[in-house]
Amino acid sequence: MKTIKDINLAGQRVFIRVDFNVPLDDHQNITDDTRIRSVLPTIQYALDHRAKVIIASHLGRPKGQVVPEMSLAPVAKRLGRLIEKDISMAPDSIGPDVRALADSLGEGDVLLLENLRFHSEEQANDDGFAQNLAELCDVYINDAFAVSHRANASVHAVTRFAPVCGAGFLLQTELDYFRKAMADPQRPLVAIVGGAKVSSKLGALENMLKNVDKIIVGGAMANTFLKSRGLAMGASRVENELMGNAADIMQAAADRGIHFYLPVDFVVASKLDERAETKIVPAAEIPEGWMALDIGPATSLLYSEVLYDAKTVVWNGPMGVFEMDAFSRGTMSMVHSVANSYAMTIVGGGDTDVAIHKSGESDRITYISTGGGAFLRLMEGKPLPAVAALEEAQRRTE
Ligand code: 3PG
Repeated sequence: MKTIKDINLAGQRVFIRVDFNVPLDDHQNITDDTRIRSVLPTIQYALDHRAKVIIASHLGRPKGQVVPEMSLAPVAKRLGRLIEKDISMAPDSIGPDVRALADSLGEGDVLLLENLRFHSEEQANDDGFAQNLAELCDVYINDAFAVSHRANASVHAVTRFAPVCGAGFLLQTELDYFRKAMADPQRPLVAIVGGAKVSSKLGALENMLKNVDKIIVGGAMANTFLKSRGLAMGASRVENELMGNAADIMQAAADRGIHFYLPVDFVVASKLDERAETKIVPAAEIPEGWMALDIGPATSLLYSEVLYDAKTVVWNGPMGVFEMDAFSRGTMSMVHSVANSYAMTIVGGGDTDVAIHKSGESDRITYISTGGGAFLRLMEGKPLPAVAALEEAQRRTE
């Protein structure tokens, strides 16, 4: 794939689509700027090569309305501090005023467009909207891995109208790491799949079966697997309608000689409440009316042993309700096991990233993806629509 390095940027209006969908608190303060920092190499490269830089992103889900709380203005401030430059903030993402601002940029100037999703046409992948965006630039760069699983106008349709298209460093790095982990992995390759719902991870689990040596399951989704094996899960969350799929996955794993690990004990509580009474019980002995909310200590130990000889680890989804301290130990212990491993470790998915940042172990993970849905889609073995569009545009102009 052609990247920003293969394109002449000097004096060009370079439109960089990033994912600045960052968490904000009630006062619009950015509480985690990882996604901003992760695209700085691309922005800096464009500036060093005398580009006139236009940056665009969505923030939140304003559903085509102007929602002042979802303005990118706080991001402009943070970005300006990080690159030590004044950033001009556009009043909108399209329209004559924005066009005039883009045209008046000098080399090394940076313009941040307002939230793309203030226009419903963005998520509708509307050609007219995409054309308006494309008219702002001479070069289009997609560095928005985390939204590349969406066919949105600024990552998909735009590639049909922009004169030259390329990938930014973050997009390239994300795809490279994932490919390294899944296409030609050092073995054993271990997949850790957690989170609340089997339904959202079914595709990923089925695809992982084609390639991995071991699968570790945690989070509430493990309950459905255990129930399909005949365990009584008390009041735990179970997707009864997916018990058949869960059994099929375990059978397919067994047929292929893949080790499939489920929790052997749990932290249970009588209700989903931080202050509720808790107990640690074997997986087969969850009392009636109690619910499994985290993996227990024996499971943490088992899982750390499973990871012991791993050479490649891909992890998506927490082991329990880690947002509540009482049910966070299993996920935190998994973070430490992954961090301590000598394997190449790749982690993705919003919740899993939050747990890792909370633990302070970020530097000991080989690669933390900025993608949630996009990372999961790669785990499902499906192409990312925005990447496919970018490649298609590049083929057309070759
Ligand atoms: C994300 O945070 O995963 C991306 O920015 C995509 O956001 P979306 O799920 O609102 O499309």
